[in-house]
Amino acid sequence: MGNRFRINSTEQCDVLIIGGGGAGLRCAVEILQKRPGTKVVAVTKVGHVRKSHTTTAQGGLAAVDPKDPIDKPIYHMFDTWKGSDCAADQNIIKKIIESAWDQIVWLENHGMHFSRDEGGNLSKRTFGGHTLNFGEASAFRAVFEADRTGKGIVDTLWGEALRGGISFINQSIATELIFRGNRCSGAVIFKQKEGRFVRVMAKATVLAMGGSGQLFRVTTNCRQNTGDGLALILQAGLPIMDTEAVQFHPTGIVGPGILASETLRSVGGILRNRDQEAFMERYAPKMRELAPRDLVARAIETEVREGRGVLNPDHNIEHVWIDLRHLSDYVHNVQIPEVTGFFRKFVNIDPKKELCPVRPSVHYHMGGIPTNEFGEVQKSGEELISGLFAVGECAAASFHGFNRLGTNSILELITMGKIAGEKAMDFLEVDSNEPPGDAGEMTFSLFSRFMEGEGKENIGQIRQEMQTLMTEKVGIFRKEDGLIEAIETLKELQERSENIFLSNKSLTMNQELIQRWELENLLAVSMICVQGALNRRESRGGHFREDFPERKDEFNYHTLAHMTEFGKVTLGERPVDMSIYEARGENYEKFAVIERKY
Ligand code: FUM
Repeated sequence: MGNRFRINSTEQCDVLIIGGGGAGLRCAVEILQKRPGTKVVAVTKVGHVRKSHTTTAQGGLAAVDPKDPIDKPIYHMFDTWKGSDCAADQNIIKKIIESAWDQIVWLENHGMHFSRDEGGNLSKRTFGGHTLNFGEASAFRAVFEADRTGKGIVDTLWGEALRGGISFINQSIATELIFRGNRCSGAVIFKQKEGRFVRVMAKATVLAMGGSGQLFRVTTNCRQNTGDGLALILQAGLPIMDTEAVQFHPTGIVGPGILASETLRSVGGILRNRDQEAFMERYAPKMRELAPRDLVARAIETEVREGRGVLNPDHNIEHVWIDLRHLSDYVHNVQIPEVTGFFRKFVNIDPKKELCPVRPSVHYHMGGIPTNEFGEVQKSGEELISGLFAVGECAAASFHGFNRLGTNSILELITMGKIAGEKAMDFLEVDSNEPPGDAGEMTFSLFSRFMEGEGKENIGQIRQEMQTLMTEKVGIFRKEDGLIEAIETLKELQERSENIFLSNKSLTMNQELIQRWELENLLAVSMICVQGALNRRESRGGHFREDFPERKDEFNYHTLAHMTEFGKVTLGERPVDMSIYEARGENYEKFAVIERKY
Protein backbone atom coordinates (compact mmCIF):
# COMPACT_ATOMS: atom_id res chain seq x y z
CA MET A 1 0.00 0.00 0.00
CA GLY A 2 1.26 3.43 -0.82
CA ASN A 3 4.51 2.33 -2.45
CA ARG A 4 4.07 4.44 -5.53
CA PHE A 5 3.76 7.59 -3.46
CA ARG A 6 6.54 9.49 -1.75
CA ILE A 7 7.29 12.86 -0.32
CA ASN A 8 8.99 14.73 -3.14
CA SER A 9 10.37 17.55 -1.04
CA THR A 10 10.32 19.20 2.35
CA GLU A 11 10.11 22.95 2.73
CA GLN A 12 10.51 25.10 5.81
CA CYS A 13 8.61 28.28 6.57
CA ASP A 14 7.61 30.32 9.58
CA VAL A 15 3.87 30.42 9.00
CA LEU A 16 1.88 28.13 6.74
CA ILE A 17 -1.55 29.44 5.82
CA ILE A 18 -3.85 26.94 4.17
CA GLY A 19 -6.36 28.97 2.19
CA GLY A 20 -6.05 32.25 0.34
CA GLY A 21 -9.39 33.96 0.97
CA GLY A 22 -10.02 37.01 3.11
CA ALA A 23 -9.24 35.40 6.48
CA GLY A 24 -5.98 33.77 5.38
CA LEU A 25 -4.74 36.86 3.58
CA ARG A 26 -5.60 39.21 6.46
CA CYS A 27 -3.70 36.90 8.77
CA ALA A 28 -0.71 36.88 6.42
CA VAL A 29 -0.66 40.65 6.08
CA GLU A 30 -0.75 41.14 9.85
CA ILE A 31 2.33 38.99 10.25
CA LEU A 32 4.20 40.45 7.28
CA GLN A 33 3.57 44.01 8.42
CA LYS A 34 4.40 43.46 12.08
CA ARG A 35 7.35 41.19 11.51
CA PRO A 36 8.88 41.92 8.10
CA GLY A 37 10.99 39.11 6.77
CA THR A 38 8.80 36.36 8.23
CA LYS A 39 8.51 33.53 5.75
CA VAL A 40 4.78 33.14 5.13
CA VAL A 41 3.56 30.52 2.68
CA ALA A 42 -0.10 30.40 1.60
CA VAL A 43 -1.58 27.34 -0.09
CA THR A 44 -4.63 27.91 -2.28
CA LYS A 45 -6.90 25.21 -3.65
CA VAL A 46 -7.84 27.47 -6.53
CA GLY A 47 -5.50 28.66 -9.26
CA HIS A 48 -5.27 32.19 -7.88
CA VAL A 49 -6.37 34.01 -4.71
CA ARG A 50 -8.68 36.16 -6.81
CA LYS A 51 -10.77 33.03 -7.35
CA SER A 52 -11.25 32.54 -3.61
CA HIS A 53 -14.82 32.42 -2.34
CA THR A 54 -14.41 35.71 -0.43
CA THR A 55 -14.33 37.52 -3.76
CA THR A 56 -18.00 36.61 -4.28
CA ALA A 57 -19.17 38.46 -1.14
CA GLN A 58 -21.55 41.15 -2.16
CA GLY A 59 -23.22 43.04 0.70
CA GLY A 60 -20.62 44.56 3.03
CA LEU A 61 -19.16 44.47 6.54
CA ALA A 62 -20.96 45.57 9.66
CA ALA A 63 -19.10 47.97 11.96
CA VAL A 64 -20.20 50.83 14.16
CA ASP A 65 -18.41 54.10 13.49
CA PRO A 66 -17.49 55.56 16.91
CA LYS A 67 -18.52 58.97 15.53
CA ASP A 68 -21.99 57.74 14.63
CA PRO A 69 -24.48 59.91 16.55
CA ILE A 70 -27.09 57.16 17.00
CA ASP A 71 -25.50 53.73 16.57
CA LYS A 72 -23.46 52.03 19.31
CA PRO A 73 -21.34 48.88 19.51
CA ILE A 74 -23.60 47.55 22.27
CA TYR A 75 -26.52 47.53 19.81
CA HIS A 76 -24.44 45.55 17.33
CA MET A 77 -23.48 43.12 20.11
CA PHE A 78 -27.11 42.69 21.09
CA ASP A 79 -28.21 42.11 17.49
CA THR A 80 -25.49 39.51 16.98
CA TRP A 81 -26.44 37.74 20.22
CA LYS A 82 -30.17 37.77 19.45
CA GLY A 83 -29.52 36.86 15.82
CA SER A 84 -27.42 33.86 16.92
CA ASP A 85 -30.44 32.56 18.84
CA CYS A 86 -28.47 32.99 22.05
CA ALA A 87 -25.79 30.54 20.95
CA ALA A 88 -22.82 32.78 20.05
CA ASP A 89 -20.01 33.31 22.55
CA GLN A 90 -20.27 36.72 24.17
CA ASN A 91 -16.51 37.13 24.71
CA ILE A 92 -16.05 36.76 20.93
CA ILE A 93 -18.96 39.08 20.13
CA LYS A 94 -17.43 41.77 22.33
CA LYS A 95 -13.91 41.34 21.02
CA ILE A 96 -14.88 41.45 17.34
CA ILE A 97 -17.39 44.26 17.57
CA GLU A 98 -15.16 46.48 19.68
CA SER A 99 -12.40 46.30 17.12
CA ALA A 100 -14.65 46.38 14.04
CA TRP A 101 -14.28 50.02 13.05
CA ASP A 102 -10.45 49.86 13.25
CA GLN A 103 -10.62 47.19 10.56
CA ILE A 104 -12.68 49.41 8.26
CA VAL A 105 -10.15 52.24 8.69
CA TRP A 106 -7.33 49.77 8.14
CA LEU A 107 -8.86 48.48 4.90
CA GLU A 108 -9.46 51.96 3.61
CA ASN A 109 -5.95 53.06 4.48
CA HIS A 110 -4.67 50.12 2.48
CA GLY A 111 -6.57 51.08 -0.64
CA MET A 112 -10.07 49.60 -0.38
CA HIS A 113 -12.57 51.72 -2.30
CA PHE A 114 -15.58 51.78 -0.02
CA SER A 115 -18.63 53.42 -1.57
CA ARG A 116 -19.25 56.96 -0.39
CA ASP A 117 -22.32 59.17 -0.37
CA GLU A 118 -22.65 62.56 -2.03
CA GLY A 119 -21.27 64.26 1.08
CA GLY A 120 -18.12 62.13 0.82
CA ASN A 121 -18.93 60.02 3.88
CA LEU A 122 -18.79 56.25 3.85
CA SER A 123 -22.12 54.92 2.62
CA LYS A 124 -23.86 52.47 4.91
CA ARG A 125 -26.67 50.04 4.37
CA THR A 126 -28.83 48.02 6.68
CA PHE A 127 -29.04 44.25 6.75
CA GLY A 128 -31.39 41.77 8.40
CA GLY A 129 -31.41 41.82 12.19
CA HIS A 130 -29.18 44.92 12.55
CA THR A 131 -31.01 47.43 14.72
CA LEU A 132 -30.71 50.56 16.81
CA ASN A 133 -31.58 50.75 20.46
CA PHE A 134 -32.05 47.01 21.00
CA GLY A 135 -34.49 46.35 18.20
CA GLU A 136 -36.28 49.65 17.78
CA ALA A 137 -35.39 50.48 14.17
CA SER A 138 -33.08 49.30 11.41
CA ALA A 139 -29.42 50.25 11.83
CA PHE A 140 -27.42 51.39 8.81
CA ARG A 141 -24.03 50.03 9.79
CA ALA A 142 -22.67 47.94 6.91
CA VAL A 143 -20.02 49.63 4.80
CA PHE A 144 -19.55 48.24 1.33
CA GLU A 145 -18.02 48.56 -2.09
CA ALA A 146 -21.15 48.64 -4.28
CA ASP A 147 -22.29 45.00 -4.38
CA ARG A 148 -18.83 43.50 -4.85
CA THR A 149 -17.32 44.09 -1.41
CA GLY A 150 -15.48 40.78 -1.27
CA LYS A 151 -13.59 41.51 -4.45
CA GLY A 152 -12.41 44.83 -3.04
CA ILE A 153 -11.23 43.12 0.13
CA VAL A 154 -9.32 40.36 -1.61
CA ASP A 155 -7.65 42.78 -4.04
CA THR A 156 -6.57 44.98 -1.14
CA LEU A 157 -5.22 42.12 0.94
CA TRP A 158 -3.58 40.38 -1.97
CA GLY A 159 -1.65 43.53 -2.87
CA GLU A 160 -0.47 43.98 0.71
CA ALA A 161 0.49 40.32 1.06
CA LEU A 162 2.59 40.52 -2.11
CA ARG A 163 4.23 43.70 -0.90
CA GLY A 164 5.16 41.87 2.32
CA GLY A 165 6.77 39.01 0.38
CA ILE A 166 4.24 36.20 0.79
CA SER A 167 4.79 33.02 -1.28
CA PHE A 168 1.84 31.22 -2.80
CA ILE A 169 1.51 27.55 -3.59
CA ASN A 170 -1.53 27.66 -5.86
CA GLN A 171 -3.86 24.91 -7.00
CA SER A 172 -2.78 22.66 -4.17
CA ILE A 173 -4.53 20.85 -1.35
CA ALA A 174 -3.61 20.04 2.24
CA THR A 175 -4.07 16.32 2.76
CA GLU A 176 -2.68 15.83 6.26
CA LEU A 177 -1.64 17.88 9.25
CA ILE A 178 1.76 17.10 10.70
CA PHE A 179 2.01 16.83 14.47
CA ARG A 180 4.82 16.44 16.97
CA GLY A 181 3.04 15.45 20.14
CA ASN A 182 0.56 18.17 20.90
CA ARG A 183 2.14 20.63 18.49
CA CYS A 184 1.16 21.13 14.85
CA SER A 185 4.27 21.60 12.75
CA GLY A 186 2.92 21.96 9.23
CA ALA A 187 1.06 19.96 6.64
CA VAL A 188 1.43 17.62 3.71
CA ILE A 189 0.54 19.50 0.55
CA PHE A 190 -0.36 17.88 -2.75
CA LYS A 191 0.54 20.11 -5.70
CA GLN A 192 -1.98 19.32 -8.38
CA LYS A 193 -0.10 20.74 -11.35
CA GLU A 194 3.11 18.89 -10.63
CA GLY A 195 1.52 15.85 -8.99
CA ARG A 196 4.00 16.19 -6.14
CA PHE A 197 3.73 15.79 -2.38
CA VAL A 198 5.49 18.40 -0.27
CA ARG A 199 5.90 18.50 3.46
CA VAL A 200 5.64 22.15 4.41
CA MET A 201 7.04 22.48 7.91
CA ALA A 202 5.91 25.55 9.81
CA LYS A 203 6.23 27.08 13.25
CA ALA A 204 2.57 28.10 13.07
CA THR A 205 -0.12 26.66 10.80
CA VAL A 206 -3.33 28.54 10.03
CA LEU A 207 -6.36 26.81 8.52
CA ALA A 208 -8.38 29.28 6.45
CA MET A 209 -10.02 26.72 4.20
CA GLY A 210 -13.52 28.15 3.76
CA GLY A 211 -16.93 26.55 3.94
CA SER A 212 -18.79 23.43 2.97
CA GLY A 213 -21.75 24.67 0.90
CA GLN A 214 -21.22 21.85 -1.60
CA LEU A 215 -22.79 19.48 0.90
CA PHE A 216 -26.10 20.65 -0.55
CA ARG A 217 -27.62 20.69 -4.00
CA VAL A 218 -28.37 24.40 -4.15
CA THR A 219 -25.75 26.73 -2.73
CA THR A 220 -24.31 30.19 -3.13
CA ASN A 221 -20.89 28.64 -2.52
CA CYS A 222 -18.14 28.13 -5.06
CA ARG A 223 -17.39 24.70 -6.46
CA GLN A 224 -14.30 24.40 -4.25
CA ASN A 225 -16.15 24.72 -0.91
CA THR A 226 -16.17 21.04 -0.02
CA GLY A 227 -15.53 21.16 3.74
CA ASP A 228 -11.86 20.24 3.32
CA GLY A 229 -10.74 22.03 6.50
CA LEU A 230 -13.31 20.24 8.61
CA ALA A 231 -12.41 16.87 7.12
CA LEU A 232 -8.70 17.53 7.78
CA ILE A 233 -9.47 18.18 11.43
CA LEU A 234 -11.66 15.08 11.76
CA GLN A 235 -8.91 13.02 10.16
CA ALA A 236 -6.55 14.32 12.89
CA GLY A 237 -8.98 13.04 15.56
CA LEU A 238 -10.06 16.55 16.57
CA PRO A 239 -13.62 17.84 17.01
CA ILE A 240 -15.86 20.06 14.89
CA MET A 241 -18.28 22.42 16.60
CA ASP A 242 -21.96 23.12 15.86
CA THR A 243 -21.95 20.83 12.87
CA GLU A 244 -25.73 21.17 12.47
CA ALA A 245 -25.73 24.98 12.28
CA VAL A 246 -26.15 25.63 8.55
CA GLN A 247 -27.36 28.91 7.09
CA PHE A 248 -29.78 29.01 4.17
CA HIS A 249 -29.64 32.41 2.51
CA PRO A 250 -33.23 33.41 1.73
CA THR A 251 -32.56 34.61 -1.77
CA GLY A 252 -30.62 32.40 -4.12
CA ILE A 253 -31.32 33.00 -7.80
CA VAL A 254 -33.61 30.15 -8.79
CA GLY A 255 -31.80 27.63 -10.91
CA PRO A 256 -28.12 28.28 -10.26
CA GLY A 257 -28.62 29.20 -6.57
CA ILE A 258 -26.25 32.14 -6.96
CA LEU A 259 -26.45 34.74 -4.21
CA ALA A 260 -28.97 37.51 -4.75
CA SER A 261 -27.61 39.73 -2.00
CA GLU A 262 -29.65 40.75 1.00
CA THR A 263 -28.75 44.23 -0.26
CA LEU A 264 -31.76 43.83 -2.55
CA ARG A 265 -34.03 43.78 0.49
CA SER A 266 -31.95 46.42 2.23
CA VAL A 267 -32.58 48.89 -0.61
CA GLY A 268 -36.32 48.12 -0.54
CA GLY A 269 -36.83 44.89 -2.51
CA ILE A 270 -40.08 43.17 -1.51
CA LEU A 271 -40.66 39.41 -1.32
CA ARG A 272 -43.91 38.34 -2.97
CA ASN A 273 -45.68 35.01 -3.31
CA ARG A 274 -47.71 33.59 -6.19
CA ASP A 275 -50.55 36.01 -5.42
CA GLN A 276 -48.05 38.86 -5.33
CA GLU A 277 -48.72 39.26 -1.62
CA ALA A 278 -45.85 40.85 0.37
CA PHE A 279 -45.92 37.91 2.75
CA MET A 280 -43.11 38.78 5.17
CA GLU A 281 -45.47 40.94 7.17
CA ARG A 282 -47.18 37.76 8.37
CA TYR A 283 -43.93 36.24 9.64
CA ALA A 284 -42.01 39.24 11.05
CA PRO A 285 -44.45 42.13 11.40
CA LYS A 286 -41.81 44.63 12.46
CA MET A 287 -38.69 43.77 10.48
CA ARG A 288 -40.44 42.08 7.52
CA GLU A 289 -37.85 41.55 4.69
CA LEU A 290 -35.12 42.59 7.10
CA ALA A 291 -35.70 39.91 9.68
CA PRO A 292 -32.71 37.57 10.14
CA ARG A 293 -32.01 35.00 7.48
CA ASP A 294 -33.20 31.87 9.27
CA LEU A 295 -36.61 33.42 9.69
CA VAL A 296 -36.92 34.77 6.15
CA ALA A 297 -35.70 31.50 4.64
CA ARG A 298 -38.28 29.53 6.63
CA ALA A 299 -40.99 32.00 5.61
CA ILE A 300 -40.20 31.49 1.92
CA GLU A 301 -40.15 27.71 2.27
CA THR A 302 -43.44 27.83 4.16
CA GLU A 303 -45.02 29.83 1.35
CA VAL A 304 -43.87 27.21 -1.12
CA ARG A 305 -44.95 24.28 1.06
CA GLU A 306 -48.38 25.77 1.57
CA GLY A 307 -48.96 26.18 -2.13
CA ARG A 308 -48.23 29.87 -2.52
CA GLY A 309 -45.03 29.38 -4.48
CA VAL A 310 -44.63 29.90 -8.20
CA LEU A 311 -43.84 26.97 -10.43
CA ASN A 312 -41.80 27.66 -13.52
CA PRO A 313 -42.30 24.76 -15.96
CA ASP A 314 -38.87 25.46 -17.49
CA HIS A 315 -37.07 24.02 -14.48
CA ASN A 316 -39.85 22.77 -12.20
CA ILE A 317 -38.44 24.56 -9.19
CA GLU A 318 -40.98 26.34 -7.04
CA HIS A 319 -40.00 29.78 -5.83
CA VAL A 320 -41.16 33.20 -4.69
CA TRP A 321 -40.40 36.58 -6.21
CA ILE A 322 -38.30 39.52 -5.20
CA ASP A 323 -39.79 42.71 -6.54
CA LEU A 324 -37.27 45.40 -7.48
CA ARG A 325 -39.36 47.17 -10.08
CA HIS A 326 -40.23 50.15 -7.89
CA LEU A 327 -36.60 51.00 -7.08
CA SER A 328 -35.04 54.05 -8.70
CA ASP A 329 -32.59 53.90 -11.58
CA TYR A 330 -29.94 55.17 -9.18
CA VAL A 331 -30.45 52.16 -6.90
CA HIS A 332 -30.42 49.75 -9.84
CA ASN A 333 -27.43 51.24 -11.58
CA VAL A 334 -25.24 52.31 -8.68
CA GLN A 335 -26.11 50.19 -5.66
CA ILE A 336 -27.01 46.78 -7.06
CA PRO A 337 -25.60 46.60 -10.60
CA GLU A 338 -23.75 43.33 -10.12
CA VAL A 339 -26.67 41.36 -8.66
CA THR A 340 -29.23 42.64 -11.12
CA GLY A 341 -26.72 41.74 -13.83
CA PHE A 342 -26.82 38.14 -12.53
CA PHE A 343 -30.59 38.04 -13.05
CA ARG A 344 -30.15 39.31 -16.59
CA LYS A 345 -27.33 36.93 -17.35
CA PHE A 346 -28.48 33.72 -15.67
CA VAL A 347 -32.28 33.83 -15.91
CA ASN A 348 -32.80 36.37 -18.66
CA ILE A 349 -34.87 38.70 -16.52
CA ASP A 350 -34.77 42.49 -16.42
CA PRO A 351 -35.18 43.40 -12.71
CA LYS A 352 -36.26 46.94 -13.59
CA LYS A 353 -39.33 45.59 -15.35
CA GLU A 354 -39.90 42.02 -14.15
CA LEU A 355 -40.26 40.11 -10.90
CA CYS A 356 -37.14 38.09 -10.05
CA PRO A 357 -37.36 34.41 -8.96
CA VAL A 358 -35.66 33.52 -5.66
CA ARG A 359 -35.53 30.60 -3.24
CA PRO A 360 -33.25 29.81 -0.26
CA SER A 361 -29.77 28.58 -1.09
CA VAL A 362 -27.20 27.16 1.33
CA HIS A 363 -24.84 29.97 2.17
CA TYR A 364 -22.77 29.54 5.30
CA HIS A 365 -21.76 27.12 8.01
CA MET A 366 -21.90 28.74 11.42
CA GLY A 367 -20.18 25.70 12.86
CA GLY A 368 -16.57 24.81 12.25
CA ILE A 369 -13.22 24.10 13.88
CA PRO A 370 -13.54 25.16 17.52
CA THR A 371 -11.13 27.90 18.51
CA ASN A 372 -10.54 30.23 21.40
CA GLU A 373 -10.66 34.02 21.08
CA PHE A 374 -7.22 34.09 19.39
CA GLY A 375 -8.20 31.60 16.71
CA GLU A 376 -6.18 28.81 18.38
CA VAL A 377 -7.61 25.37 17.67
CA GLN A 378 -9.07 23.56 20.66
CA LYS A 379 -8.52 19.88 21.23
CA SER A 380 -11.17 19.42 23.83
CA GLY A 381 -12.50 21.88 26.34
CA GLU A 382 -9.92 24.59 26.85
CA GLU A 383 -6.97 22.42 25.79
CA LEU A 384 -5.24 23.76 22.68
CA ILE A 385 -3.20 22.25 19.86
CA SER A 386 -0.04 24.29 20.00
CA GLY A 387 0.77 26.25 16.83
CA LEU A 388 -2.50 25.47 15.05
CA PHE A 389 -5.03 28.18 14.19
CA ALA A 390 -8.31 28.32 12.28
CA VAL A 391 -10.00 31.42 10.88
CA GLY A 392 -12.80 32.34 8.50
CA GLU A 393 -15.72 30.11 7.64
CA CYS A 394 -13.97 26.86 8.48
CA ALA A 395 -13.56 28.09 12.06
CA ALA A 396 -16.01 28.62 14.89
CA ALA A 397 -14.93 30.90 17.69
CA SER A 398 -18.12 31.39 17.85
CA PHE A 399 -19.29 34.84 16.69
CA HIS A 400 -22.43 33.62 14.92
CA GLY A 401 -23.91 30.89 17.11
CA PHE A 402 -26.76 29.23 15.22
CA ASN A 403 -27.64 32.05 12.86
CA ARG A 404 -25.28 34.59 11.34
CA LEU A 405 -26.37 38.12 10.57
CA GLY A 406 -25.60 39.34 7.07
CA THR A 407 -22.29 41.30 6.83
CA ASN A 408 -21.00 39.76 10.06
CA SER A 409 -18.96 37.10 8.27
CA ILE A 410 -16.67 39.47 6.43
CA LEU A 411 -16.25 41.43 9.63
CA GLU A 412 -15.37 38.23 11.44
CA LEU A 413 -12.89 36.97 8.89
CA ILE A 414 -11.03 40.26 8.77
CA THR A 415 -10.92 40.62 12.54
CA MET A 416 -10.12 37.03 13.43
CA GLY A 417 -7.57 36.88 10.61
CA LYS A 418 -5.74 39.81 12.18
CA ILE A 419 -6.04 38.45 15.73
CA ALA A 420 -4.77 35.00 14.74
CA GLY A 421 -1.91 36.60 12.82
CA GLU A 422 -0.86 38.54 15.92
CA LYS A 423 -1.02 35.43 18.07
CA ALA A 424 0.81 33.24 15.54
CA MET A 425 3.85 35.47 15.99
CA ASP A 426 4.25 34.06 19.51
CA PHE A 427 5.18 30.71 17.95
CA LEU A 428 8.04 31.77 15.73
CA GLU A 429 10.93 31.09 18.08
CA VAL A 430 10.99 27.30 17.65
CA ASP A 431 14.56 26.14 16.79
CA SER A 432 14.23 23.07 14.70
CA ASN A 433 11.22 21.75 12.91
CA GLU A 434 12.20 18.44 11.43
CA PRO A 435 9.34 16.33 10.07
CA PRO A 436 8.42 13.15 11.92
CA GLY A 437 9.24 10.07 9.83
CA ASP A 438 5.62 9.08 9.28
CA ALA A 439 4.42 12.43 7.92
CA GLY A 440 2.67 11.58 4.68
CA GLU A 441 1.71 8.00 5.53
CA MET A 442 -1.92 8.88 6.12
CA THR A 443 -2.09 10.71 2.79
CA PHE A 444 -0.49 7.84 0.91
CA SER A 445 -2.83 5.29 2.37
CA LEU A 446 -5.80 7.49 1.44
CA PHE A 447 -4.58 8.14 -2.10
CA SER A 448 -3.77 4.43 -2.58
CA ARG A 449 -7.32 3.59 -1.58
CA PHE A 450 -8.58 6.06 -4.17
CA MET A 451 -6.27 4.88 -6.92
CA GLU A 452 -6.85 1.19 -6.26
CA GLY A 453 -10.65 1.39 -6.10
CA GLU A 454 -12.40 -1.05 -8.40
CA GLY A 455 -16.01 -1.00 -9.48
CA LYS A 456 -18.64 0.83 -11.43
CA GLU A 457 -19.53 3.64 -9.07
CA ASN A 458 -19.23 7.18 -10.22
CA ILE A 459 -17.96 10.19 -8.24
CA GLY A 460 -20.43 12.67 -9.73
CA GLN A 461 -23.39 10.37 -9.17
CA ILE A 462 -22.59 9.79 -5.49
CA ARG A 463 -21.89 13.47 -4.94
CA GLN A 464 -25.24 14.38 -6.48
CA GLU A 465 -27.13 11.79 -4.47
CA MET A 466 -25.49 13.08 -1.30
CA GLN A 467 -26.39 16.69 -2.16
CA THR A 468 -29.99 15.75 -2.87
CA LEU A 469 -30.20 13.75 0.35
CA MET A 470 -28.80 16.62 2.40
CA THR A 471 -31.15 19.11 0.75
CA GLU A 472 -34.22 16.95 1.27
CA LYS A 473 -33.54 15.50 4.72
CA VAL A 474 -31.18 17.99 6.37
CA GLY A 475 -32.47 21.20 4.84
CA ILE A 476 -34.45 24.09 6.23
CA PHE A 477 -36.95 21.75 7.90
CA ARG A 478 -35.58 18.64 9.60
CA LYS A 479 -37.15 15.79 11.51
CA GLU A 480 -36.05 12.63 13.22
CA ASP A 481 -37.08 9.99 10.67
CA GLY A 482 -35.51 11.98 7.81
CA LEU A 483 -32.27 12.45 9.74
CA ILE A 484 -32.05 8.75 10.59
CA GLU A 485 -32.67 7.92 6.95
CA ALA A 486 -29.94 10.38 5.98
CA ILE A 487 -27.43 8.67 8.27
CA GLU A 488 -28.20 5.25 6.82
CA THR A 489 -28.04 6.54 3.25
CA LEU A 490 -24.75 8.33 3.90
CA LYS A 491 -23.29 5.03 5.14
CA GLU A 492 -24.44 3.38 1.93
CA LEU A 493 -22.97 6.18 -0.16
CA GLN A 494 -19.68 5.86 1.70
CA GLU A 495 -19.65 2.11 1.04
CA ARG A 496 -20.46 2.68 -2.60
CA SER A 497 -17.64 5.21 -2.84
CA GLU A 498 -15.19 2.35 -2.19
CA ASN A 499 -16.26 0.98 -5.58
CA ILE A 500 -15.23 4.02 -7.56
CA PHE A 501 -12.73 3.28 -10.28
CA LEU A 502 -10.49 6.18 -11.26
CA SER A 503 -9.78 5.96 -14.96
CA ASN A 504 -6.94 8.46 -14.71
CA LYS A 505 -4.02 7.05 -12.72
CA SER A 506 -1.69 9.95 -13.18
CA LEU A 507 -0.83 12.22 -10.29
CA THR A 508 -0.46 15.28 -12.48
CA MET A 509 -3.51 17.50 -12.94
CA ASN A 510 -5.79 14.62 -12.14
CA GLN A 511 -9.18 16.22 -11.52
CA GLU A 512 -10.76 12.83 -10.98
CA LEU A 513 -8.42 12.21 -8.06
CA ILE A 514 -9.17 15.62 -6.54
CA GLN A 515 -12.89 15.04 -6.90
CA ARG A 516 -12.54 11.65 -5.24
CA TRP A 517 -10.76 13.33 -2.32
CA GLU A 518 -13.46 16.00 -2.18
CA LEU A 519 -16.16 13.34 -2.11
CA GLU A 520 -14.47 11.73 0.90
CA ASN A 521 -14.49 15.11 2.66
CA LEU A 522 -18.08 15.88 1.73
CA LEU A 523 -19.36 12.55 3.00
CA ALA A 524 -17.49 12.92 6.30
CA VAL A 525 -18.77 16.45 6.90
CA SER A 526 -22.33 15.48 5.91
CA MET A 527 -22.25 12.69 8.46
CA ILE A 528 -21.29 14.94 11.38
CA CYS A 529 -23.79 17.56 10.24
CA VAL A 530 -26.64 15.05 10.30
CA GLN A 531 -25.58 13.51 13.61
CA GLY A 532 -25.46 16.96 15.21
CA ALA A 533 -28.91 17.73 13.80
CA LEU A 534 -30.35 14.45 15.08
CA ASN A 535 -28.98 14.97 18.56
CA ARG A 536 -30.26 18.55 18.89
CA ARG A 537 -33.91 17.90 19.67
CA GLU A 538 -34.89 21.54 19.57
CA SER A 539 -34.97 24.39 17.04
CA ARG A 540 -32.37 27.15 17.16
CA GLY A 541 -31.37 29.59 14.43
CA GLY A 542 -30.73 27.82 11.15
CA HIS A 543 -31.37 24.40 12.71
CA PHE A 544 -35.13 23.83 12.64
CA ARG A 545 -36.69 20.57 13.82
CA GLU A 546 -40.32 20.19 12.78
CA ASP A 547 -40.72 17.65 15.56
CA PHE A 548 -39.19 20.02 18.14
CA PRO A 549 -40.09 23.49 16.90
CA GLU A 550 -39.14 25.37 20.10
CA ARG A 551 -35.75 26.38 21.46
CA LYS A 552 -34.93 24.56 24.69
CA ASP A 553 -32.66 25.72 27.50
CA GLU A 554 -31.25 22.24 27.95
CA PHE A 555 -29.53 22.71 24.56
CA ASN A 556 -27.82 25.98 25.49
CA TYR A 557 -24.43 24.63 24.46
CA HIS A 558 -22.25 24.12 21.40
CA THR A 559 -22.13 20.66 19.86
CA LEU A 560 -18.66 19.10 19.59
CA ALA A 561 -18.48 16.17 17.15
CA HIS A 562 -15.61 13.69 16.80
CA MET A 563 -15.60 11.03 14.11
CA THR A 564 -12.88 8.42 14.47
CA GLU A 565 -14.15 6.23 11.68
CA PHE A 566 -16.91 6.91 9.15
CA GLY A 567 -20.26 6.95 10.91
CA LYS A 568 -18.80 6.51 14.43
CA VAL A 569 -19.59 9.94 15.80
CA THR A 570 -19.28 10.92 19.43
CA LEU A 571 -20.88 14.13 20.54
CA GLY A 572 -19.73 16.41 23.33
CA GLU A 573 -20.53 19.91 24.48
CA ARG A 574 -18.83 23.29 24.86
CA PRO A 575 -20.56 25.87 27.05
CA VAL A 576 -21.83 29.09 25.48
CA ASP A 577 -19.84 32.05 26.85
CA MET A 578 -22.20 34.46 28.62
CA SER A 579 -19.56 36.86 29.93
CA ILE A 580 -21.36 40.07 28.95
CA TYR A 581 -24.42 38.93 30.84
CA GLU A 582 -22.40 37.65 33.77
CA ALA A 583 -20.41 40.92 34.08
CA ARG A 584 -23.70 42.60 35.06
CA GLY A 585 -22.72 45.86 33.31
CA GLU A 586 -25.11 48.37 31.73
CA ASN A 587 -27.82 46.61 29.68
CA TYR A 588 -26.55 43.20 30.77
CA GLU A 589 -30.12 41.86 30.86
CA LYS A 590 -30.28 42.12 27.06
CA PHE A 591 -27.66 39.37 26.94
CA ALA A 592 -29.64 36.80 28.86
CA VAL A 593 -31.23 33.90 27.00
CA ILE A 594 -33.87 36.15 25.50
CA GLU A 595 -36.99 35.71 23.45
CA ARG A 596 -36.43 36.12 19.73
CA LYS A 597 -39.14 38.06 17.90
CA TYR A 598 -38.75 40.45 14.98
O1 FUM B 1 -26.55 38.88 1.08
C1 FUM B 1 -25.37 39.16 1.07
O2 FUM B 1 -24.89 40.10 0.45
C2 FUM B 1 -24.48 38.33 1.86
C3 FUM B 1 -23.79 38.86 2.84
C4 FUM B 1 -23.30 38.00 3.90
O3 FUM B 1 -23.46 36.78 3.81
O4 FUM B 1 -22.77 38.51 4.88
